Amino acid sequence: MSAAAPEITIDRHAGGAADMGEEVREGLTRRPLKELPPKLFYDARGSELFDQITAQPEYYPARAERSILNRCSPEIVALSGADELVELGSGVASKTRALLYAMAGAGVLDRYVPFDIDLSVVEACATELTEVLPGMRVHGVVGDFGRDLDRLPDGDHRLIAFLGGTVGNLYPDERAAFLARVREQMGPSDHLLVGMDLVKDRALLEAAYNDAVGVTAAFNLNVLKAVNEGLGADFDLDAYEHVAFFDPEAARIEMRLRSLRDQNVSVPGAGLEVDLAEGEEIRTEISSKFTQERIESELGAAGLELTRLFCDDEGLFSLALAAPAS
Ligand code: SAH
Ligand code: TRP
Repeated sequence: MSAAAPEITIDRHAGGAADMGEEVREGLTRRPLKELPPKLFYDARGSELFDQITAQPEYYPARAERSILNRCSPEIVALSGADELVELGSGVASKTRALLYAMAGAGVLDRYVPFDIDLSVVEACATELTEVLPGMRVHGVVGDFGRDLDRLPDGDHRLIAFLGGTVGNLYPDERAAFLARVREQMGPSDHLLVGMDLVKDRALLEAAYNDAVGVTAAFNLNVLKAVNEGLGADFDLDAYEHVAFFDPEAARIEMRLRSLRDQNVSVPGAGLEVDLAEGEEIRTEISSKFTQERIESELGAAGLELTRLFCDDEGLFSLALAAPAS
């Protein structure tokens, strides 16, 4: 067995392609605020830009979550009793290594299941991780975690991780439906580990989404390029600016693109001509911030019970470990 090739399988056809034209038409015809679907951020270029965001000094969530994982992974693994790590929105999976090493160290690591909408990251992390963790099986899934969760392979001692605060990018109704669907997929011995950013000082929050060198701005604008490429649209990327602000009422950051002039955009793949006024904004993403009470109540509403809440030393970010409510 020692010379066996690493066992990697990738399911590239989860659910078939979503109808991008339909989703973009729906968003750009919204009143009073136009929207674009956030999953469009993550083509190969978008994944690369997001990885650069996580290295910016202002972007505390990645640093804080990494410090929790580096410190607490052995405990998380022990509490979960898992032999398999499923990761939703896995991206380049750099923080995930702490969990995988903790499982390997405990001698319980059987399989890693990265699930992401971007094929390039699923392929890359499958290859890289089997190199550093020989003997681990990998089953990648390329799909939309809003629709394709039924493509997850069966297992009965799984740790399902959802890191990066990505759950906060869902709107409250989407988040409730998503958590309930994850709960449906879980057996009695599975656990969920979900990273949620915490409510804090406004200046600190806003700086994280307005980094000084402009990587976040480039990431935000990349969504227009994705629409140009996917739907033959003619968005002029120089005619928009990045906007990110904290809305304390809704406890969330909103990411928007502001039109710098009156303009008309044609989106043939969505059968659409759109007018934008100077100063008009398109919402591209929200990033919700939580309190411990909110975390417990949202998990509870989905039939999940908090096993333990892990925080970094500065109280910036949290990782909730939860199990099906008994
Ligand atoms: N977990 C990584 C990446 C977070 S960025 C980290 O913590 O750094 C969000 C990730 O979710 C990206 O890799 C993106 O491609 C993926 N993603 C976004 N929307 C998705 C969707 N609807 N379905 C599946 N993956 C999605
Ligand atoms: N999950 C990340 C977050 O909410 C996503 C993110 C970080 C993001 N920076 C962004 C999304 C900028 C859009 C624009 O923090």
